[in-house]
Amino acid sequence: MGVERLIKARRSIRKFKSSKPNWREIIECIDSTRYAPMAGNNFSLKFILVDDEVKIQKLAEAAQQDFIAETKYVVVVCTTPGRTETAYGDRGKNYLKQQAGAAIQNFLLRLTECKLATCWVGHFIDEQVKDILNIPKEIEVEAMFPIGYPLEKPKEKRYIDLDAVLYFNKYGNKKMKEEPKISA
Ligand SMILES: Cc1cc2nc3c(=O)[nH]c(=O)nc-3n(C[C@H](O)[C@H](O)[C@H](O)COP(=O)(O)O)c2cc1C
Repeated sequence: MGVERLIKARRSIRKFKSSKPNWREIIECIDSTRYAPMAGNNFSLKFILVDDEVKIQKLAEAAQQDFIAETKYVVVVCTTPGRTETAYGDRGKNYLKQQAGAAIQNFLLRLTECKLATCWVGHFIDEQVKDILNIPKEIEVEAMFPIGYPLEKPKEKRYIDLDAVLYFNKYGNKKMKEEPKISA
């Protein structure tokens, strides 16, 4: 599938088949994150692939979202702030979030390509997730991704119009200046 089709095919799935995906395939999808842009080329992310059923149940409780417990794998994405914050200070905090998003989108597109399904889970009690997975306190938990084969077809979604998000030359200006006509 080309990039545009993958971008459009990716959807959040919250119902999963009972069959277990091949974990090596999930690792290949995690591998795609290494190619994301990172400020100063400092890679700031860590990934924890969880297949322990008890831990997955506890992660579902930490997120207060039962559907997570239906999956055989959960990938937890963490940020190691160290080098980026040292190099860029407060601005670095911003960069860390931006590059986590860029890397996660690579991951999501590769999962889509592999016909694997997930849902980005950003709501959870950080301390609980850290306890379950022995994550050090200076490490930030960005999100978790329960992974399986899809058991639902998501409803058609309404996308925001391009016109509502695009400006030209200054904030709020919706018109592109017309190209001057070249006379023969
Ligand atoms: C930062 C972030 C946090 C999210 N957290 C949750 C979550 O905790 N639980 C959930 O079910 N979906 C969560 N979502 C998924 C969104 O609800 C979903 O992306 C949105 O409804 C659009 O649907 P789509 O992903 O199918 O395009 C999150 C998405 C993002 C980007």
